Amino acid sequence: MTHPLTQRPAWQALAAHFDQIHQVHLRTLFADDPQRGQRLTAEAAGLFLDYSKHRITDETLRLLLALAEECDLRGRIDAMFRGDKINITENRAVLHVALRAPAGQHIDVDGVDVVPDVHAVLDKMAGFARLVRGGQWLGYTGRPIRNVVNIGIGGSDLGPVMAYEALRHYSARTLTFRFVSNVDGTDFAEATHDLDPAETLFIVASKTFTTQETMANAHTARAWTLAALHDEAAIARHFVAVSTNAAKVGEFGIDTANMFGFWDWVGGRYSMDSAIGLSTMIAVGPENFHALLAGFHAMDEHFRTAPFERNLPALLGLLTVWYNGFFDAQTVAVLPYDQYLKRFPAYLQQLTMESNGKRVTLAGAAIDDYQTSPIYWGEPGTNGQHSFYQLIHQGVKLIPCDFIGFGHSLNPLGNHHDLLMSNVFAQAEALAFGKSTEQVLAEGTPAWLAPHRTFPGNRPSNVILAERLTPEILGALVALYEHSVFVQGAIWDINPFDQWGVELGKALANRITPELTSEAAPELSHDSSTNALIRRYRALRGRA
Ligand code: F6P
Repeated sequence: MTHPLTQRPAWQALAAHFDQIHQVHLRTLFADDPQRGQRLTAEAAGLFLDYSKHRITDETLRLLLALAEECDLRGRIDAMFRGDKINITENRAVLHVALRAPAGQHIDVDGVDVVPDVHAVLDKMAGFARLVRGGQWLGYTGRPIRNVVNIGIGGSDLGPVMAYEALRHYSARTLTFRFVSNVDGTDFAEATHDLDPAETLFIVASKTFTTQETMANAHTARAWTLAALHDEAAIARHFVAVSTNAAKVGEFGIDTANMFGFWDWVGGRYSMDSAIGLSTMIAVGPENFHALLAGFHAMDEHFRTAPFERNLPALLGLLTVWYNGFFDAQTVAVLPYDQYLKRFPAYLQQLTMESNGKRVTLAGAAIDDYQTSPIYWGEPGTNGQHSFYQLIHQGVKLIPCDFIGFGHSLNPLGNHHDLLMSNVFAQAEALAFGKSTEQVLAEGTPAWLAPHRTFPGNRPSNVILAERLTPEILGALVALYEHSVFVQGAIWDINPFDQWGVELGKALANRITPELTSEAAPELSHDSSTNALIRRYRALRGRA
């Protein structure tokens, strides 16, 4: 019989162990083991992880690893890599790892090797990217494309925009890239206000090609293009699509020769290295895109093969389970000390919370005695330090932090990088060790002020270091979090690969739209609040 999570022996042992150690301070743990800072580290795919500043002992790790075994993490990893239909509520395989499999590797879905198809699409993307980058893809009036606008939302936007920003250093500076996601017309208007339609290419990126926001923006883009170029034939030169839905792409009026496909076994939030990454490939070129894929693959192989005690995604995932499940930590702060990673926290929000924000087990049982996904959030350092770090240091909430930093800046300017990185190490140190009231008093602080100036410490963090932010490292970093999410989902016994929770709001909006726009006053049968809000909105719009 499979036990519910909280009945598992390892979970119960962790609960008892938590009672024993949750008040032990990191100061004590470090004092007791001079080697701790070297010992509790792991390295793979160019990423170095220091997890010594966690409120764990060797026994904690042993029990977390036992929990992974009891939850059959190994079996679940093998099932994913094998192409089993582990997304059971949608009856789909989950094979983002196939998107970065080298040519020649075999991964079967329903008995068909998908790797040759993956490489065929990559080759087609590369051919197109080279034409655009080389100024050979001409717009309808014969002028080269200078602006690329990606229209998409969720996974069809957050990955591309994050990767573009992260790899901007490597991007073709002769091209302008914009990203339109919001159905708020302001997004489209501001993204295009200074662009010339004759030099602008739209990439309509949507797995389903039915998403309301993306379709509204794509139709607006079409009208914007035609208003300037006055000929339907222009669409073929100014629009390409990235989708799994060829029929809908054709219906929209984009020639399916200008479509880059992917497959139902790629989840939206796991799709940035599929054809959804077309804007990334145009920006950084096919070689850099392949380097990005190599970084993903290196982390995939590490995740698949390394023992869990040295396995970065396993460690990261299990530590999250530890704080979430036993310390009742509600959030994780991701703090990249690199301005190029400014959209990384936003990207991670969809990856983590759309994946693991679930309330029933795989078998459909309600989860009422443990937590699932924490809330992920963050901002690049050092900016966050002058904003919300006060709460992390002295608030009453426990917020595990992931600090991400690099040995070298891509823009070495004077001593900026050393200043930046000294803040990474200082913040992690301050969080862990704090400053006691005795220390504060010894500095001459009056007794009444001392509590305000005391830092309790014992606040956990990971420090992730890499040599520099390259395409390979970005791939490894994203794959690290993808697989950490997988580990968490496996422990919590949930399906990280569906997202039914987004459906209700979509359906209700579809019902409400005509109630906002109808000429005659509609019959409203919502609750009294929704009815009153709709009436007030209609009044604001001058409608009956
Ligand atoms: O509404 C959520 C969602 O389905 C995400 O999972 C997905 O990334 C996003 O919408 C966009 O979907 P599509 O690529 O099909 O337009």
